[in-house]
Amino acid sequence: MIIDGKGLSNQLDSGMKAEVKALRAAGIEPKLVVIIVGHDPASQIYVRNKHRKAIKLGITSIIERRPEDFSQADLLALIEQYNQDESVHGILVQLPLPKQIDESAVIRAIDLKKDVDGFSPENVGKLFSNSDEHYSVSCTPKGIMTMLTHYDIDPADKHAVIVGDSNIVGRPMGALLLNAGATVTYTHILTQDLSSYTRTADILIVATGVAHLIKATDIKPGATVIDVGMNRDENGKLVGDVDYDHAKTVAGAITPVPGGVGPMTITSLMQQTLELTKLANR
Ligand code: GUN
Repeated sequence: MIIDGKGLSNQLDSGMKAEVKALRAAGIEPKLVVIIVGHDPASQIYVRNKHRKAIKLGITSIIERRPEDFSQADLLALIEQYNQDESVHGILVQLPLPKQIDESAVIRAIDLKKDVDGFSPENVGKLFSNSDEHYSVSCTPKGIMTMLTHYDIDPADKHAVIVGDSNIVGRPMGALLLNAGATVTYTHILTQDLSSYTRTADILIVATGVAHLIKATDIKPGATVIDVGMNRDENGKLVGDVDYDHAKTVAGAITPVPGGVGPMTITSLMQQTLELTKLANR
């Protein structure tokens, strides 16, 4: 089975469009600000796609572009301007940031009520303690959970193996799966004999940025394989972290690249923008 993230993302648009329409009818304009510093090529594409989806749904989207040499002080001032702006419901600072800027200082500067990415220590703490209170969560793992639910893949009592320990994907992904009842194994760049772990996964999540790291022989027959990778191969073709053509003959369900996880990341961002908009207007 191919997990069609793009199709699901488009399917979820109509519900969100209706929600935006209802908010606007009540005089509320959902508004997202995306700040991008520098010219990381992948970030340019992500930001463009986020903007397109927001427009499609009727969410107001502001993109603030700043040059590669933009200072941390100026970035913090820009964030503070939007923290104070009551018409703005979500603030997203696209990562990675240029080296002169301390990412964690930037994340902490975003008003908690506008942390649409779920990167703040408070939101991360709520995720890892499985809080009952509302919290935002990193958009890619959230989108993956939405896909699993839609395809009736219940993580409860399954073995989930995460490959890659990033703050944006691997770590929050493991926490969400743990909260959903999975037994979770984290693997990362220092893990020895990676295959001995991946071959025991019922749900395998790969987010490393290494093209075709995971081969068909690394996958348990029938497993669900979620590929978060976005790499260019030697011919410039977009490929994932999983050798898709061979892996799909072994996996029970698998996401393609492109058209799998990527669109669902953006859907999550839109969903959380609407949640924060509603919370601000309760
Ligand atoms: N860079 C890659 N993924 C993300 C994301 O989900 N949010 C932000 N802000 N930056 C990213």
